[in-house]
Amino acid sequence: RNPESQNILDAHQWLVKLYHHLLRNSKDGKQAYEYLADRGFTDEIIEKYQLGYSPNSKDFVATFLEKKGFHPQTMVKAGLLSVNSEGEYSDRFRGRIIFPLRNHLGKTVAFAGRALGDQQPKYLNSPETDLFHKGQLLYNFDLARSSIRKQNSVVLFEGYADVISSFQAGVTNAVGTMGTSISTNQAKLLKRYADKVIICYDGDQAGIDAAVKAAKLVKNVGCQSNVARLPEGQDPDDFIRKNGGERFKREILDTSDTYVTFIMSYLKRNYNLQLEGDRISYIEEVLKEVAQLDRAVEREHYLHEISQEFQMSMDTLKEEVQQIRSHLG
Ligand code: UTP
Ligand code: MN
Ligand code: MN
Ligand code: MN
Ligand code: MN
Repeated sequence: RNPESQNILDAHQWLVKLYHHLLRNSKDGKQAYEYLADRGFTDEIIEKYQLGYSPNSKDFVATFLEKKGFHPQTMVKAGLLSVNSEGEYSDRFRGRIIFPLRNHLGKTVAFAGRALGDQQPKYLNSPETDLFHKGQLLYNFDLARSSIRKQNSVVLFEGYADVISSFQAGVTNAVGTMGTSISTNQAKLLKRYADKVIICYDGDQAGIDAAVKAAKLVKNVGCQSNVARLPEGQDPDDFIRKNGGERFKREILDTSDTYVTFIMSYLKRNYNLQLEGDRISYIEEVLKEVAQLDRAVEREHYLHEISQEFQMSMDTLKEEVQQIRSHLG
């Protein structure tokens, strides 16, 4: 590892401690602490995730880092400071709740800073650096890894708070992408530890659309791909705060849809099944998905469902599926 990377890691480690200390002990940090407490973050969780507070100051961190002997230009590269056209260095994260972002080895390589109110952006993340690539890092993977392997399954969230809430509720095989849909690299990493991924994104249009992409990607790396459905307008954190972890496990995770069932209900929203043309297009779309299933029992299961719902013969459906399969790579 080159000296600059080591420097950047060291600076992050200092700042995890500093931000955390300020959350617990500064006058300014008190409102941030209260915000977290109001949201249901316990002291135990604040400790475990080393949550912090970045003071609302132009140069508090800049001064701190300078005193510790860090080169300001390197700290700009690290995404911890900004520099203006006059060459003045200033703090990047100001007046925000700090979530340290750890890599798979447990080293903090970036920060996410959440606004205390409605300021934009809601989350300010570190920029991409040599040590931090948003599309590579899975939030909480270092803490969840052994549980993922033991359970042979992983629950995938889109937000930091969702991961932390579900962890607090006893779902320890929880990881998060950072608002974006999962990348092929991330999916492949998960496949090395588990055969099943439960996608648990927000119950809004953005979450549902991202879940479709994620579900396909996860399936294509060879994992069983399930999708959990949240009530309209709620995210997993909202649901857990409102209803508790037991109900979350029982009503959301345990009842997650299989890939095909999820795709069927997703497609149904785009077609008017009262119309003959739409009905046929819908069935053809679903058969394309069914045709890609490896196991004959599974294919048969969904064909039965379609056969009953649309009064079609199994023979016709099977023939169509065989036809599609003969053209698959
Ligand atoms: P959400 O908007 O669903 O936020 O974005 P959230 O996780 O529910 O946050 P809370 O509960 O309001 O605190 C999901 C994820 O997308 C990324 C973050 O990783 C966030 O957790 N995101 C969102 C950003 O990076 N920047 C933003 O401005 C918003
Ligand atoms: Mn502490
Ligand atoms: Mn969201
Ligand atoms: Mn959300
Ligand atoms: Mn949320």
